[in-house]
Amino acid sequence: MGKIPFGPTYEEMLYPDKAPSEIRQKAIKARKEDEMDPVNLFNITWKDENNQVRKIVLPKELTGVEANIVVMLGTDFPSGAHKVGPAYSMLMEASVDGIVEPGKNTILGPSTGNFGIGTAYISNLMGYKAIVPMPDNMSKERYERIQQYGGELDLTPGTESDVILTVYRTIELKKDPINYSLDQFELMSNYRFHRYVTGNSAIEAVEGVGNGRIACYAVCVGTAGTFAAGDEMKKVFPECKLVALEPYECPTLTKDARGQHRIEGIGDKLCSLIQ
Ligand SMILES: Cc1ncc(COP(=O)(O)O)c(C=O)c1O
Repeated sequence: MGKIPFGPTYEEMLYPDKAPSEIRQKAIKARKEDEMDPVNLFNITWKDENNQVRKIVLPKELTGVEANIVVMLGTDFPSGAHKVGPAYSMLMEASVDGIVEPGKNTILGPSTGNFGIGTAYISNLMGYKAIVPMPDNMSKERYERIQQYGGELDLTPGTESDVILTVYRTIELKKDPINYSLDQFELMSNYRFHRYVTGNSAIEAVEGVGNGRIACYAVCVGTAGTFAAGDEMKKVFPECKLVALEPYECPTLTKDARGQHRIEGIGDKLCSLIQ
């Protein structure tokens, strides 16, 4: 077996304080000072420097309902979105399994953007070249961010609801064995990250809020990776209801219908293996 790549385990993403303390301290410093330092892989977690889940409890004056609504915040993940978690998990599992090697393989991150940003970012930190097949009509910021992290764009026609074309393009690119795709719509590492890391972080996030139980988990679905956290919640709170949200204009799950919308990251007009 080759060299084990540098980066956190699932356990260390859920409990970042379980990483060796020298690495943890370096990671906390690098988060503020140098986002391209590979030690930032140890910042792939829902927790802050004090090991608390980043969250807000919405004020009742705002929600108008008695139930406590806890929102978990993904903006402080390296690269700015929680999608870096599944991207890292997919690439790390493939690296540990010896399927890909830094400097040898090119990593593909088919997506509508956030996952592509995550793919470009972690590929850079882990020593891989990245190509992001994505629709040509997404926000400018997404393209800039991917390129800023050294990712190459491979654009297909359309918007959010045309993600299937990026999948077709990826099938073409995969004919070259140098290319390895982080197939977020089907790889179980997407499920594993969210079930274990996001699910257990959510369970911690409600400690001390109301009765400390989760009555309902509501999440917008793209690949439904984030939705997989609900399986962990249901194990601990069997009464928990799981609600998948999708755009009204593209009600694939509710009405088996398709349409266009501008909510980036969700409502991809397809039903993933996880769903
Ligand atoms: C902002 C945002 N929210 C939600 C999602 C959906 O997450 P998932 O693919 O885990 O269903 C995405 C996916 O890219 C996203 O970018």
